[in-house]
Amino acid sequence: MSSRAKLKFPPGPSSGLRRWSLGPLNNGDPLGYFAGLVREYGDLIGLRILNFRILLINHPDHIEDVLVNHPRKFIKGRVLKANKRVFGSGLLTSEGDFWLRQRRLAQPAFHRARIAGYASTMVEYTERLLHGWQDGEERDLHKEMMRLTLQIVGKTLFDADVEGDAQDVGKSMELLLELGADFRRTVLVPHWLPTPANFRLERAIRKIEKVLYRIIAEKRASGRDAGDLLSMLLAAQDEDGSRMTDKQLRDEAITLFLAGHETTANTLSWTWWLLAQNPAVEARLHAELRSVLGGQTPSLDDLPKLVYTNQVITESLRLYPPAWGTARTAIEDHEIAGYSVPKGSGVSFAQWTVHRDARWYDAPGEFRPERWEGDLLKRIPRFAYFPFGGGPRQCIGNSFALMEAALVLATIAQQYRFRLVEGHLVVPLASITLRPRHGIRAVLEARPARSRVASDP
Ligand code: HEM
Repeated sequence: MSSRAKLKFPPGPSSGLRRWSLGPLNNGDPLGYFAGLVREYGDLIGLRILNFRILLINHPDHIEDVLVNHPRKFIKGRVLKANKRVFGSGLLTSEGDFWLRQRRLAQPAFHRARIAGYASTMVEYTERLLHGWQDGEERDLHKEMMRLTLQIVGKTLFDADVEGDAQDVGKSMELLLELGADFRRTVLVPHWLPTPANFRLERAIRKIEKVLYRIIAEKRASGRDAGDLLSMLLAAQDEDGSRMTDKQLRDEAITLFLAGHETTANTLSWTWWLLAQNPAVEARLHAELRSVLGGQTPSLDDLPKLVYTNQVITESLRLYPPAWGTARTAIEDHEIAGYSVPKGSGVSFAQWTVHRDARWYDAPGEFRPERWEGDLLKRIPRFAYFPFGGGPRQCIGNSFALMEAALVLATIAQQYRFRLVEGHLVVPLASITLRPRHGIRAVLEARPARSRVASDP
């Protein structure tokens, strides 16, 4: 192949007059932007943002090629890298041998047997939340889910009660996510420039760091291993006997705080919203909870029996994947389907568009948990459904998140259903994660105890 042919760049908005289009940088709707590109250009799209080339791919096999077959040729994308002030060298953003070492240290905390021990905490915190709810009240479900998942992550991963800090930390997290996801700001404005947004970001980081450093200090002082992730990281030693510094611990902790609570909160929020609009699905979910749990709180042993509940979550993650897009930068030359991916260029793909592709899903825009009943997962390509990514950088909290989502859903749905507040617009905001821009306002409707008991007619 001649070198000219090798430099082939697929069609996309980078050609002709639209060559300098800033695409998602100057567009407030990245979801619509990506969906439009896929409709117009297909599976391989050439995108140019200023002088930076991105190959946008939409076919599951090409995604597998990047994530599974050639992960060493790529590092994380620019937006995540630009958020280094937030994540430091935590698991999500670090690379190479350092990442591998940290991943190996953290992995045992996420083994099935270990996270099984977190199930009762998840249910207990959910019940605590329900104690504060009343029939007929109007609440923002997204706020409620954020508070709950933050507390669960705090307790299970750090053995810390963050109840008192929840509001402060929650607000700061929101700001980090909002500012961190502003493509233009993160990529074009260095974090040390004294802009108003950078000041706000810095204040938010400091607030979270204060809580984290307090937890780390308390742990170091007590020397007690409560079986949580932080204790494990504190105890972990390198071959030369050196331990992780407070800064390293801070980086891992803030990464897990951010990656571990907002994503699951989004999953739950979107699920409640979808259920409230699909009464037949909701009724089937209630029927399963009644027959499997009979009004009792769910436990880990119940989860394999809650088949439909799990399908509801699977389908919610398909339609509203909290990690809605993924980006990588090539550190070696690569080639995808005859198109060159030169070193330094980007590769992106969006769970949002792949999960809604009619080639893999019938009626892709509809919420149909029963589509997962048969062997759909076996019939579609491996990367037609990948809410947790794939390959070596796959989400470490995958099983943790699915268990948490199922337990929280089952606990709450037994006691409450939600009526969406009319006139409150629920719109997805595609920041680093996909969340409801103005929250989800709903009226809480307590379910009568009798409707939860299996033996009742
Ligand atoms: C529904 C909930 C969740 C979703 C959809 C999700 C999604 C993802 C995805 C797609 C990635 C890969 C990103 C990439 O390839 O660039 C990832 C990585 C990661 N996730 Fe999750 N996640 C969820 C929950 C969690 C939880 C509960 C935790 C921790 C308690 C967690 C911790 C992490 C970490 C540390 C990484 C980086 C792993 C590495 O690179 O070694 N996530 N997540």
